[in-house]
Amino acid sequence: MAARRKTVLVIDANDDARERLSQTLRRDYRVIRAASAESGLPLMDKEGVDVLVADMKQAGLGGLDLLQIVRENFPLVEIIMTSAAPDVEGAVRAIKLGAYHFVTKDSDPDVLRELVRHAGERQDLHRHVLTLQDAAGDAGGREFITGPSTGLKDVLETVHKVAKLSATVLILGESGTGKELLARLLHRESANPDAPFIAVNVAAIPRELVESTLFGHEKGSFTGALQQRIGKFELANGGTLFLDEIGDLKSDLQAKLLRAIQEGEVERVGGSRPIRTQFRLIAATNIELERAVKDGTFREDLYYRLNVIPVRLPPLRERIEDLPVLADFFIKRYSARFHKDVRGIAESSVKMLSHYWWPGNIRELENLIERLVAVVDHEYITDEDLPFEFHVVELDRAKSDTSLLDRAMGTFERNFLVRALERNAWNVTQTARYLGVPLSTLKFKMERLEIRELAKKIKK
Ligand SMILES: Nc1ncnc2c1ncn2[C@@H]1O[C@H](COP(=O)(O)OP(=O)(O)OP(=O)(O)O)[C@@H](O)[C@H]1O
Ligand SMILES: [Mg+2]
Repeated sequence: MAARRKTVLVIDANDDARERLSQTLRRDYRVIRAASAESGLPLMDKEGVDVLVADMKQAGLGGLDLLQIVRENFPLVEIIMTSAAPDVEGAVRAIKLGAYHFVTKDSDPDVLRELVRHAGERQDLHRHVLTLQDAAGDAGGREFITGPSTGLKDVLETVHKVAKLSATVLILGESGTGKELLARLLHRESANPDAPFIAVNVAAIPRELVESTLFGHEKGSFTGALQQRIGKFELANGGTLFLDEIGDLKSDLQAKLLRAIQEGEVERVGGSRPIRTQFRLIAATNIELERAVKDGTFREDLYYRLNVIPVRLPPLRERIEDLPVLADFFIKRYSARFHKDVRGIAESSVKMLSHYWWPGNIRELENLIERLVAVVDHEYITDEDLPFEFHVVELDRAKSDTSLLDRAMGTFERNFLVRALERNAWNVTQTARYLGVPLSTLKFKMERLEIRELAKKIKK
């Protein structure tokens, strides 16, 4: 069966370069061209682009920004970045951000043709993997799993109700409860799911770059602003902007953000004209914003503007009845991903997992299951496979007269001591020296925390 002719989009501001690249590829591909990322992006969907060949250095939206947007919104498109001169640092960054390859524009035309051919093959392979994953119930890790808990049912009911509206949603919840996943779900169910979903983690950007990342900047507006840059607010135009860790936003930017939301306009740093942009805003935070407002670190007016539709994701320990479904789901996911034959988890082990307090919530559960599936070599995960802390929790449950904090501290101390003992081959004298405590102290603690008995029980 003859393969469909693939479509290649060439983005380059330089007319000659664009023409030359197109000439090279025209024989084997349907080639479309754009002089800028801004004019190229709308073609991605409309023209069904398979492979993107884009210049690193561009005015406006830079090459790396373009790369990130395409990666986020068109996961099946393969990207080859080009540059006029060799640029090792740029190449490394591009590849890290998910580009397929990096070439200088004066490379042999055959090299480029070969690269595009391989990129196309990789795309086919990727599509194939996704089809298989889909069949195995794994849609690339983005589906939102729910169990029987009412806490989450309420959340999803709200989400289904408001997804199609353009109203701002504020997602609250501890770390690892699925805030980002929920934001993506909201976007997928929005009136315009094909529009861009632009995610910004405010806490992950260096302080001095937050403003220009969000609002963009004009060339030369500050030292280091060598090129004009489009901000995330502009990029999200027509789509969804997800502002993660909103509680970390500095107060001057809080004011700018408020203005941007209220007026639907932003101004680039060093820019003189307002730029219109309209997007659905989803904000998330794992701190208590109300508290931050009281403390004076978060603007009250912004808080009210964000808090239009608050959605609180409950911690896993408060919806522990969902744990079996989630555990099963992750076992299937990682079994398929690692080509293992792990089928499930023993009921008694699920019970042990349910007694744990899961400070890292679903992320912690997912990481645990990933590790377990990777190492076990039998069909069902059993109690012995579970790490030490879960056995400790079981032991602590017996002593119901102690507070949760005491039990948590006991667990931590016990884990810590056992790891130290293991490291020192259970030689108590050596371990005491390693920990920098008198031998008598260590012995006392081991006695009090029932470490020997527990270790014996687990090791059997
Ligand atoms: N309902 C769910 N179904 C499937 N996977 C989930 C669910 N909730 C969370 N996860 C998984 O748990 C991990 C953490 O989720 P996510 O990044 O959305 O949490 P978060 O609340 O944004 O965390 P943080 O506050 O640390 O940024 C991800 O790998 C995600 O896929
Ligand atoms: Mg997050």
